[in-house]
Amino acid sequence: MTVQETGPLTTEAGAPVADNQNSETAGPAGPVLLQSQHLLEKLAHFNRERIPERVVHARGAGAYGTFTLTRDVSQWTRAAFLSEVGKQTETFLRFSTVAGNLGSADTVRDPRGFALKFYTEEGNYDLVGNNTPVFFIKDALKFPDFIHTQKRDPYTGSQEADNVWDFWSLSPESTHQVTWLFGDRGIPATLRHMNGYGSHTYQWNNEAGEVFWVKYHFKTDQGIRNLTQAEANRIAGEDPDHHQRDLRTAIERGEFPSWTVQVQVMPAADAAAYRFNPFDLTKVWPHADYPPIEIGRLELNRNPENVFAEVEQSVFSPAHFVPGIGPSPDRMLQGRLFAYGDAHRYRVGVNADHLPVNRPHATQARTHARDGYLYDGRHKGERNYEPNSFGGPEQTGRPLWEPVEVSGATAYGAAPVHAEDDDFGQAGALYRLMSQDEQARLVENLAGFIAKVSRDDIAARAVDNFRRADEDFGKRLEVAVQALRG
Ligand code: HEM
Repeated sequence: MTVQETGPLTTEAGAPVADNQNSETAGPAGPVLLQSQHLLEKLAHFNRERIPERVVHARGAGAYGTFTLTRDVSQWTRAAFLSEVGKQTETFLRFSTVAGNLGSADTVRDPRGFALKFYTEEGNYDLVGNNTPVFFIKDALKFPDFIHTQKRDPYTGSQEADNVWDFWSLSPESTHQVTWLFGDRGIPATLRHMNGYGSHTYQWNNEAGEVFWVKYHFKTDQGIRNLTQAEANRIAGEDPDHHQRDLRTAIERGEFPSWTVQVQVMPAADAAAYRFNPFDLTKVWPHADYPPIEIGRLELNRNPENVFAEVEQSVFSPAHFVPGIGPSPDRMLQGRLFAYGDAHRYRVGVNADHLPVNRPHATQARTHARDGYLYDGRHKGERNYEPNSFGGPEQTGRPLWEPVEVSGATAYGAAPVHAEDDDFGQAGALYRLMSQDEQARLVENLAGFIAKVSRDDIAARAVDNFRRADEDFGKRLEVAVQALRG
């Protein structure tokens, strides 16, 4: 807890304030004077306390921590923070829900954001993932439409089951993620008791310039714990800030949550013939194909001192890479490389990356970018152009990531279909992995929501996607939906 400062109260300009309880008036019973500067300043500042909330993932909690490398990975990446067993890197992790507004309840059924910033000596590396290994769609072009169905309807002002199921049922590639979401892991008990995933496939490249495709997994060391829908509903009413409070107080007690970090590594040469498109975000790489390899440990051990400054104003971008790590051709990831920096400039401002939580901690940003709102003058009188004859930062000549072969003409259209690519196979496999009890809860959770849809054709189409994933799944869901709809 921050120690309270003593001494005279002042205005924003530092002048002592005589009275913070009564405004200056024209006589004891008269109106307030325009010269009551302290009052005007207070009211004006108060009116400007909010910045736009994140358009998605508005509701969140964050903490600082430490990543420790436990395995030599230099055969796959030349990233300096991954160069030496035992090396530690400071991190900041922000958890979030996706659809709810800033003040919404924590215990809703929704993916959880798992946005991790590594403050490395080669710049900040942001891994902006979720607690699910897959996603609802596979092209960034569909993201605004998808999110519109999750957010408030323009007419009713509420989230509408019709919109959600209309979109999902017409986007069958969402079947895998929806099956995941309505299963037990759809409502984590706390932010400490869930896994995190990088979700996308990313490029790693080593000193020799060899390319590997990787997926990140953060396995909770606290064990997986979830809430049933009934428990979650109760907690949402009784303690809407449940997850945020749990994280903060666990760290205050010295119970530092941790995650075992694993990667799946695919040599670049495997990608073209792999049975699934390895850059399709609606699919996992089965562990039998690419076993997860343990590479490190992530611990959260320090709470932010000021939630607005460090959590609300924190910014994460999938485009923040460091040498040895880069993007894959995943169409969702490609869209995200643009979307986040753009959101930051709108939401926090052009100098968002200068704020203490966002700027590099283990190196310095050296750019020729200058000025703009709230520029702090950090570059003093340094030249702000290049080439110049006065010195200053210089390009390295080596890109962060290695080139990737492409072929064919520019076009619109679906990505190449690999041997086992479809919209339903992995959803069915996930259903069959679940215990009988878990399957029953999955069917009940889905049926409860689908039953709210106003049109029979949308409900039927929704059920049909799950039938195509697994016949038994579809049958049970149909019966359950019919029982509820009458
Ligand atoms: C093309 C698809 C996507 C687009 C266009 C998109 C866009 C955005 C935008 C604009 C924000 C708000 C950023 C801000 O205001 O600071 C955001 C936040 C976030 N997104 Fe996405 N998103 C997409 C897909 C995904 C996927 C697939 C994941 C996870 C695998 C994800 C994880 C997150 C997380 C964790 C945050 C919150 C970051 C934070 O804590 O500040 N998003 N997204």
